[in-house]
Amino acid sequence: IPVDPFDLVVFGGTGDLARRKIMPALFRRCAAGQIPDAARIIGVARHDHDTNSYRALIAESLRAEEAEPCHLEGFLRRLEYRSLDATDPAGWDSLAACLGEGVRAFYFSVSPDLFGPLAERLRNHGLATPDSRIVVEKPFGHDLGSARALNRTLAAHFGEDQTYRIDHYLGKETVQNLMAVRFGNMLFEPLWNSQYVDHIQITVAESMGVGARGAYYDQAGAMRDMMQNHLMQLLCLIAMEPPAKFDPDAVRDEKLKVIRALDPVKPHHIVRGQYAAETGCGYREEVGDPRSITETYVALKAHISNWRWAGTPFYLRTGKRLVARSSIINVMFKDAPHSIFGEEAGRHANVLSIRLQPNEGITLKVTIKEPGPGGMRLVDVPLDMSFAKALGPENQNPPDAYERLIMDVIRGNQTLFMRGDEVEAAWAWTDPIIAGWQARGDVPKPYDCGSTGPGDAELLMKRDGRRWQGINP
Ligand code: BG6
Repeated sequence: IPVDPFDLVVFGGTGDLARRKIMPALFRRCAAGQIPDAARIIGVARHDHDTNSYRALIAESLRAEEAEPCHLEGFLRRLEYRSLDATDPAGWDSLAACLGEGVRAFYFSVSPDLFGPLAERLRNHGLATPDSRIVVEKPFGHDLGSARALNRTLAAHFGEDQTYRIDHYLGKETVQNLMAVRFGNMLFEPLWNSQYVDHIQITVAESMGVGARGAYYDQAGAMRDMMQNHLMQLLCLIAMEPPAKFDPDAVRDEKLKVIRALDPVKPHHIVRGQYAAETGCGYREEVGDPRSITETYVALKAHISNWRWAGTPFYLRTGKRLVARSSIINVMFKDAPHSIFGEEAGRHANVLSIRLQPNEGITLKVTIKEPGPGGMRLVDVPLDMSFAKALGPENQNPPDAYERLIMDVIRGNQTLFMRGDEVEAAWAWTDPIIAGWQARGDVPKPYDCGSTGPGDAELLMKRDGRRWQGINP
């Protein structure tokens, strides 16, 4: 369904995120017929482009798309360019004059220190109408103090209902499916608690290293870059109470309650790692600091102190340069309380696996009888629902998270965006962990590129009589 005409202004319009994610996502929505002719996408940056050279730049970024020429042309027609500097008052009035009456979205795809100046200019030059909204990317703060300051700065110019904080994990198709599975079926919710769930594992493994983002990453590390936001959001969706409706505040209220119910993490329940390599592709070589103690891997055990989850640990891990790119949530159910088949049938437990990427889908491991006349031997088999298989090949490549999220901004739906208090609560949980490392001078454990992470992460599970499910998809 096409949306109403809108103006989308992308600050940082020539930057990496705009070229790699935002423009391709808009292009695909446009090719799908969702973006009306009258919509305008205005790239803004300091560079000396004009609209023609900007269109050429973006066309270049869309080379990998399987684009029909008419689709590409149609998309580029909606693109314009303005050269502006967030720190300079010139040019803002003319940007204001060219914007239409309808929805205005201002996408801050720039360094966070420009969020404040941009919001202020938009307000002071009269660009911020009641129908305006701003979109901000992570990192949203570096700790609780900076996140609060940022929230205050933005709130001085835009309401919370106009502020869209992106966590692109929330736009991933399977992440939304997680809610559909939990709350659209009778089957799971009665079992979704500490009485039946032994523990939950959340793994976000990446095979790539930090690449060209070393300068940012070395100040952040896996805890701030991934755990505080993406893994925390997954944890919330898995653990939250059913919201009364699928509406922005109902969902975000429930997520917030989960974060606030998290216990502080004990130092011996966390493992930090850093990828190392004999061949010179180790993290320290990549960031050019032979003494860096930034973690590129973190595994931890979290507890949620509420009625539903008391006693069920959540094991979370994420890391770079691991054996595979694979994000998966495993809900590990308890063993059946009694085996009528005797000891030799072994122990069997159901596992619900929600695969975020690659091969998006959901699998339930169930126990059945091994076929054949050999008596009552039990085996575990998957009940498999891969999206591609179940819904046809056209669903093989679900839309990119940004496609969904940007259209939600235009439609004015904040359900899949983080509210200010959620972000602050997540930092309030993360800060003491990082402060503890700093106070102790903690040095991350080295792990091999292409491995499953440091051995201590296996021990974290083993001590509890458990083990990680495999990373390989
Ligand atoms: C980003 C992190 O938010 O998410 C990156 O800053 C990380 O370090 C990326 O690589 C992972 O996203 P995806 O969608 O590729 O799993």
